[in-house]
Amino acid sequence: MMFGVPVPVRRCGGPCPQPDVKPYASRRYRIFSFATALLDGIYARVVGNLADRIAVRIRARGPITFADYMETALFDPEDGYYTTRASLGFEGDYVTSVDLGPAFGRSLARAVADLWTLAGKASSWDLVEAGAGRGILMRDLLGALERERPDAARGARPAIVEVSPRLRAQQSLALEGRDLRWASVAHSLAPIQGIVFANEVLDAFPVHVLARTADGVREVYVGEDGGTLVEVLRPPSSPDLRWRIPESVPLGGRWETSPAAEGWVASLAAALVSGYVVLIDYGGSESELLTREGAGTIRGFAQHRLIADPLSEPGRHDLTASVDFTAIRRAAEGAGLRFAGSATQREMLVALGIREATARPSTPIEQLRAASRRSAVDALLDPNGLGAFQVVCFAKDAPTEGLRMFGGARAESAARYP
Ligand SMILES: C[S@@+](CC[C@H](N)C(=O)[O-])C[C@H]1O[C@@H](n2cnc3c(N)ncnc32)[C@H](O)[C@@H]1O
Repeated sequence: MMFGVPVPVRRCGGPCPQPDVKPYASRRYRIFSFATALLDGIYARVVGNLADRIAVRIRARGPITFADYMETALFDPEDGYYTTRASLGFEGDYVTSVDLGPAFGRSLARAVADLWTLAGKASSWDLVEAGAGRGILMRDLLGALERERPDAARGARPAIVEVSPRLRAQQSLALEGRDLRWASVAHSLAPIQGIVFANEVLDAFPVHVLARTADGVREVYVGEDGGTLVEVLRPPSSPDLRWRIPESVPLGGRWETSPAAEGWVASLAAALVSGYVVLIDYGGSESELLTREGAGTIRGFAQHRLIADPLSEPGRHDLTASVDFTAIRRAAEGAGLRFAGSATQREMLVALGIREATARPSTPIEQLRAASRRSAVDALLDPNGLGAFQVVCFAKDAPTEGLRMFGGARAESAARYP
């Protein structure tokens, strides 16, 4: 809470608002001639917004999977949310832990220094943030590392993996004066020896949405009806997807799965030669996600408000889904990483000493600042908000025992993402 006000986060605590499952539209889609599609495309490019362009594409080639739709809405080179519009922070569409002040970055700096120590205190090592938003976390983390652990900071080679040109520009402002490398894929930074971390990035990867219907497993596609984007159900776009929906998803229930997020984790693993990958996000294990009674978790955000219909105004708002950490662990281990522990964000931050006492403020203004810092820490630890986020760490050619960030939570957590 910030002064008693809950900080709105993108996490979805219970079943999220979902449009009803619509029956598969049986009418055949009109097949446009190549010339018509071309003209439509030119028309949409000249006058249309992203929704128009998607509708044109669907009219020409048929419905697209929800995953394709989400990919386009977020990352279309001309109109995608992250490409051109992403606005983070209190003035923007949503806040993340990093917007609540430097305590989060300082705690992560401690985790990073611990991992650097465990991995053998290399004199030169990589510190890579993947998906760095406005660059605030990297800025806070580097600052805290320099103050608290200059021995570790001295040899750090910071780098950012970022796909959004808009956010890259903001990152370079936040990190002005620092010697930093940027890449759009981890592979370009390989071989990485050190630590890779990502806060609230996995949730931005496109998900395929599967539905259990009386006719069997179906996938949610996005179709078009009179210019409006609508859901349609079709057989899964690839045979593999059919088997991804857990048996216990009830009739009418939905399951989201992100081969793209899994592939991305595997790409981090491939670029890492030795060290750690730390991932923080909302979501849970497969069984935790199943307790949502089969409802999906996809949601949109604009100006801190939930968007009721994720198909409305693509590109103009954030789209996100809770992370299936069981699938992420499977992908990480399949790509050669070893599980090193997991905890909630609350458990991790407390283990790293976020609540540690500081000098008693003596002046009224210092007391006010101290109260504001305490509120920010309370929000980071809120068990119904940011504190419930999941933190997971994987290792490659580095020790997996003795990670302070997981304190006593390691044994319990070992079974968390079975
Ligand atoms: C929800 S924001 C989180 C930003 C920041 N980590 C924070 O906590 O405030 C997601 C970030 O991941 C980036 N991103 C999304 N997909 C990515 C990918 N495939 N590779 C690298 N960055 C990605 C976005 O551009 C954005 O910077």
